[in-house]
Amino acid sequence: MPDEIPLPPPRLRMGGAHFASDEDFVAGGVRDVRLLAEVAGLQRDSRLLDWGCGAGRLAIGVKHEWGHVADYHGVDVQKKLVRWARNHLADDHTRFTLVDQHNDRYNPDGKTKRRIPADDGSVDVLYSYSVFSHMLTDDVAGYAQVMARVLAPEGRIWLTCFVEDGVPDCVENPQDYLKLDWRGPLHCVRFDREFFESLMAAAGLRVDRFEHGQETDGQSMYVLAHA
Ligand SMILES: C[S@@+](CC[C@H](N)C(=O)[O-])C[C@H]1O[C@@H](n2cnc3c(N)ncnc32)[C@H](O)[C@@H]1O
Repeated sequence: MPDEIPLPPPRLRMGGAHFASDEDFVAGGVRDVRLLAEVAGLQRDSRLLDWGCGAGRLAIGVKHEWGHVADYHGVDVQKKLVRWARNHLADDHTRFTLVDQHNDRYNPDGKTKRRIPADDGSVDVLYSYSVFSHMLTDDVAGYAQVMARVLAPEGRIWLTCFVEDGVPDCVENPQDYLKLDWRGPLHCVRFDREFFESLMAAAGLRVDRFEHGQETDGQSMYVLAHA
């Protein structure tokens, strides 16, 4: 692996113990780039939007795997993370945007208007790892609409979230779920699978692929496309 690609200090890494070590952090990003290539059509000439990018774990994966894609755009609400990413990872093909949208867990004083800073139809692959796992129904439904708007006609959305069959539509910090101790605002938001997919359908998105429970802490993976 190239040594010169910087890594954020552990205090700026999202994902807790899963991405705490340098090896796991880099391996997670590289693995996701390969997966995006395999199931979401990511190529070197893609326009890739990393919504909820944290300190740029996927950007680091892109740099390790391919050097760059045509346009990597990381977007997040946390100033310290975006500032680190911009200072250490930005280049001609890699950029980061700080947005000030509201999230009770990550940016409680932010604006309630839902916004993803991308032109309509301009994103080939929209990656969103563990972002809907920290949002309630109104935001998931609203952001799905925004995602659909910015997605290119043949584009794909790759995301993770907590979904199960036969559970209440939406529960914040469900007790005795996956044997983890969920605490604080929006630590874990779990959806009923059918209900979640109805929100995606209402936004004009169809499920291209679904894998249950294999991602961090038992999240599931979706690949979505225009219906
Ligand atoms: C669990 S972290 C995952 C970080 C990164 N995707 C990863 O896998 O390493 C969720 C991220 O979503 C960001 N986030 C939450 N609401 C957001 C919003 N409305 N717009 C952009 N980012 C948001 C948080 O600030 C946080 O960095």
